[in-house]
Amino acid sequence: MDITTFVSELPKCELHLHIEGTLTAERRWLCAQANGIEIPGVKSLEELKSQYLTEYLYEEGQDATKYLQEFLEVYYASMNVLLTEDDFYHLALDYIKVAQSQNIRYLEAFFDPQAHTSRGVDFDTVMSGLLKAQRMAPMYDVQIHWIMCILRDMSAESALETIRQAEPYKDKIIALGLDSDEYNNPPGKFQETFLMARKYAWKITAHCDVGQKNSHDHIEYVVTELGGKRGKPATHEIVNPEHYLLPQLESGADRIDHGLNAADKSELLELVKKANIGLTLCPMGYQKHLGPQNVFPKVIKLHRYGIPITLNSDDPAYLVYSKTGTILGVAEGCHFTFKDIYDFEKNAIKMAWTPDVDFKRNF
Ligand code: ADE
Ligand code: ZN
Repeated sequence: MDITTFVSELPKCELHLHIEGTLTAERRWLCAQANGIEIPGVKSLEELKSQYLTEYLYEEGQDATKYLQEFLEVYYASMNVLLTEDDFYHLALDYIKVAQSQNIRYLEAFFDPQAHTSRGVDFDTVMSGLLKAQRMAPMYDVQIHWIMCILRDMSAESALETIRQAEPYKDKIIALGLDSDEYNNPPGKFQETFLMARKYAWKITAHCDVGQKNSHDHIEYVVTELGGKRGKPATHEIVNPEHYLLPQLESGADRIDHGLNAADKSELLELVKKANIGLTLCPMGYQKHLGPQNVFPKVIKLHRYGIPITLNSDDPAYLVYSKTGTILGVAEGCHFTFKDIYDFEKNAIKMAWTPDVDFKRNF
């Protein structure tokens, strides 16, 4: 069997995906039309599509701190067309259909409520659209869970207000994440919000982006302190420990998003391994900006060190690589075998936070 067929047919599990980063030119155009919003410099869907292909593709070798900031500017500007429950529903449903077409059976997706509430959209509008799509997902053979993200370039007070707004939905959201611009925004800034997430019995994760200032310190803090003391594992995790990655340190997060820079230091590799937490990598996005020679050797190092890693698409509408394209690109760049690829999907299902034990067991 050739590798493309193998990857296409493999049931897959995606754990690092920003739902707002899946906003296609088509959906953006439809929402803009429905909501009477003009997209600057664009008069037709064709023009918008060509903008996606030019403006949003970054050059290889760009400064990594800059690329994240420039990407985020485009990312936030584009989502101003999302206003109604229907817009959020269709945004999520579009990706659920993409997931089905790629044989992605399980998804944990981030959403950024502050990016919407700061524009005057109600928190409840966002939630009702996303939860409606979640209920539809099984019709497409997909299971999806939501991870609420805090925007780290907003204030700690805004983060606290957001987690308070989420209280009525605490049983419908599975985790708290941290994303957006990492520059001068360390994870410790939001410790109080993450402590509240633990009170909601949510899992905890945080972006430790690639090539960011102080990223090694951020990784260490996330692994050992973010969210304070861990609660007891859920009953289903104890009953079936072989299906779960159970973190071993007394306090800290349950996963790291990216965290590729852990490969730079032997103490960090050892710490992450000892903690028994996994990394959700998105290597195709950063290899474009940092150069493959600065990314693929680190991916290989993490994997050979025995740290559970998964391969994900991050923001596929902008970064171009799909989940399948990511696996194929990384397999080629790192000379990974079919067995390695299979292991990454196995890691992903172990790292997943679904309470549905049978789904995990049968994946
Ligand atoms: N928000 C959406 N995509 C992101 C990324 N790749 N890093 C940080 N924040 C994000
Ligand atoms: Zn991300």
